[in-house]
Amino acid sequence: MEYNRRRNTTTGARAQEGDAMKALLINGSPRWKGNTNRALEEVAAALEAEGLETEIAWIGNKPIRGCIACGICSRNGDGRCVFTEDPCNELIAKAAEADALVIGSPVYYAGANGSLISLLDRMFYAGGPLMRFKPAAGVAVARRAGTTLTVDQINKYFQINCMPVASSTYWALAHGRAEGEAAADAEGMHTLRTLGRNLAWLAKCLDAGRAAGIEPPALEPKPMTNFVRDDLLEA
Ligand SMILES: Cc1cc2nc3c(=O)[nH]c(=O)nc-3n(C[C@H](O)[C@H](O)[C@H](O)COP(=O)(O)O)c2cc1C
Repeated sequence: MEYNRRRNTTTGARAQEGDAMKALLINGSPRWKGNTNRALEEVAAALEAEGLETEIAWIGNKPIRGCIACGICSRNGDGRCVFTEDPCNELIAKAAEADALVIGSPVYYAGANGSLISLLDRMFYAGGPLMRFKPAAGVAVARRAGTTLTVDQINKYFQINCMPVASSTYWALAHGRAEGEAAADAEGMHTLRTLGRNLAWLAKCLDAGRAAGIEPPALEPKPMTNFVRDDLLEA
């Protein structure tokens, strides 16, 4: 897995306690330095200006397998997927350490890139509890259409996992086709910078809340209903 490491020495809320807040940004495009990366760079720069350290992790362009519903992650409860040949477990561990999470995708056929979705299904099924209550945001880039649906698709992973979703002055998207073109989408870049600042603010508020003794709420046990009527099942 490739990383764009960005370091920032500005002190944030945690830095005063000797520990800088961190944001993990996942580039879900098979193109390392394409428009998804450019969009995430814009968010990362805004996060850094607000005092967070950032890391952009690229999922690469090798095969990423989907979840096979084996349930071993649930049985083991160790926050790991049994399949270890792709970046899934490394990214779960990184997300668990981060104070904020951003996931970006190119739009493919009006939805997120398939490899990214395969990865997110496994990351959240195996490692969801490790990311719970962390602030997050989904970002999409496209030549033309399918962006808002893709942002929604990514944000759904956060919304089922008690993660506050940061917003902006527009949906978190930018337009471009050839690598890097998204930089010329001035309104898109503005939206992404605002998103980065808002996400940093959210992360700092949650951190300050914890420091003041406001912990995330305890989870009530969930009744799992699947709408199937047992009385209609064949014996
Ligand atoms: C398989 C495939 C499907 C695509 N589908 C769409 C689409 O539905 N809508 C769109 O506007 N652009 C579509 N595109 C264009 C990409 O979203 C666009 O080039 C984007 O900037 C790529 O991001 P990247 O540089 O991070 O890879 C598609 C590209 C590919 C390769």
